[in-house]
Amino acid sequence: MLMRECGTVRPVMSDSGSSFKLVDVPGGLPLFGHAGIFKKDPLRTMAEWWRRYGDALCFRLGPKTLHLFSHPDLAEEILVRQADRFVKVYDPRRPVGLALVLGNGLVTSSGEVWKRHRRIIQPIFHRARLTAMADRMVQIGEQRIAGWPNQTERPIDIAAEMMALTLEVISHTMFTTSVAHHLDHIGRALRVSLRYAFDSFHNPLHPPTWLPTRRNREFHQVTAFLDGLIYDLIAERRRSGARHDDLLDRLLDARDEETGAGLTDRELRDEALTIFAAGHETTANALAWTWYLLATHPDVKARFHEELDHVLGDKRPTADDLPNLPYTRALFDESLRLFPPAPAIQRKAATETTVGGLTLPAGSVVLIGTYNLHRHPAFWPDPDRLLPERWLKGDRSFSRCAYIPFGAGPRACVGTHFALLEGPLLLALIGQRYDLRLAQERVEPQLMVTLRPKDGILMTRHPRRRLATSAA
Ligand code: HEM
Repeated sequence: MLMRECGTVRPVMSDSGSSFKLVDVPGGLPLFGHAGIFKKDPLRTMAEWWRRYGDALCFRLGPKTLHLFSHPDLAEEILVRQADRFVKVYDPRRPVGLALVLGNGLVTSSGEVWKRHRRIIQPIFHRARLTAMADRMVQIGEQRIAGWPNQTERPIDIAAEMMALTLEVISHTMFTTSVAHHLDHIGRALRVSLRYAFDSFHNPLHPPTWLPTRRNREFHQVTAFLDGLIYDLIAERRRSGARHDDLLDRLLDARDEETGAGLTDRELRDEALTIFAAGHETTANALAWTWYLLATHPDVKARFHEELDHVLGDKRPTADDLPNLPYTRALFDESLRLFPPAPAIQRKAATETTVGGLTLPAGSVVLIGTYNLHRHPAFWPDPDRLLPERWLKGDRSFSRCAYIPFGAGPRACVGTHFALLEGPLLLALIGQRYDLRLAQERVEPQLMVTLRPKDGILMTRHPRRRLATSAA
């Protein structure tokens, strides 16, 4: 097997002393590189390459060279220590990938725009405010469960259910509105647009967005629908003048310190859509994977139910209960380890930069392989096994970047605490009431920006407790 170092990369010793050898993945075709195999199953391909070629490798998608780094030291260099040199890959003047959908919002923007908008948005996620949102999360969960079909033996797609539930949670908590009557449309619009965004970045044969192909037309249709939804929301808030002290109020109130100007409609749209999308997709997938893991690990499920019965009994869960539900939280942490909703984090070197002894030229695109990091045998005993107990020892002092479901450094997830409140609360609420069992043979992970179950997860519900609901 031919293993050679990528032409433009010179291995040298880094300041920290750890040094990596970059391996060029063999087998790339002249024009397309590795696009064919990568496109078929990006998650599995990246995991297999990592196992075969190591923690630092590079491959080509058409004219683009991508570096896949799967070691905590490299992740820390890029996301934390040299965060100012590794920027997001998006250029607002030539949007590709997620920027085609989200525009120049918090996930995709860089520089001064990002700094200013992060300052506006961050305070919404302060712990005190979040605790106040916890009751709302539980109420919405109760409402959603109350709408599930009575025949509990009829399978439901738990992945789609979690998507609908977390979408309602984000709409109520951030925008004080319900999107219940649009759920199917929004779900489809986000699915179509994320698939399109992913393809536009990774497929060298992706046609330009202006060509009138079927997929382009479909993409323009769904983005027009999402735009309409968000612009209506903004217009309605402006028209009513109602105050809710929520994210939308903060965005509308924001003023530039120097000029006094507010955010433009386009900026408002980009930030609102970003929080809509980033704030529910990831948590929904994390919950769906957790139900799947529980259904396939009866011993873990028994311990989870035992904790809920012992701590909560028939009482509805609140934020105050969470410290007393350590196993539920450990289960969620472990699920985020095995199935990180963001399985790869992208950056671009703004200037020539050295990491882990490798000098990367300006413009190099880097993928931090979170999925690989989370299963790295040098950092995780029994890495592929579901073992919530590993989180119960109170020792989280493993190498900082060996576990980064929420990213790391200045661009780490703004919604981390929100998700760590919502996830365990909804697990407790549903786990109290139902034993969810798998009703399909195979469940396959699919990387489509986030890590989702490819064809959903059909499950039957087996009632555990009949609790009085207090749905609002
Ligand atoms: C389990 C749930 C979640 C996971 C696994 C997750 C994961 C991540 C990751 C890995 C990043 C960093 C991406 C990068 O460095 O390029 C990120 C950023 C972000 N997340 Fe989350 N997220 C979750 C929930 C949420 C929620 C609930 C919200 C909002 C309510 C949210 C909003 C955002 C935003 C706005 C950013 C961009 C932050 C910035 O660059 O300043 N996320 N998320």
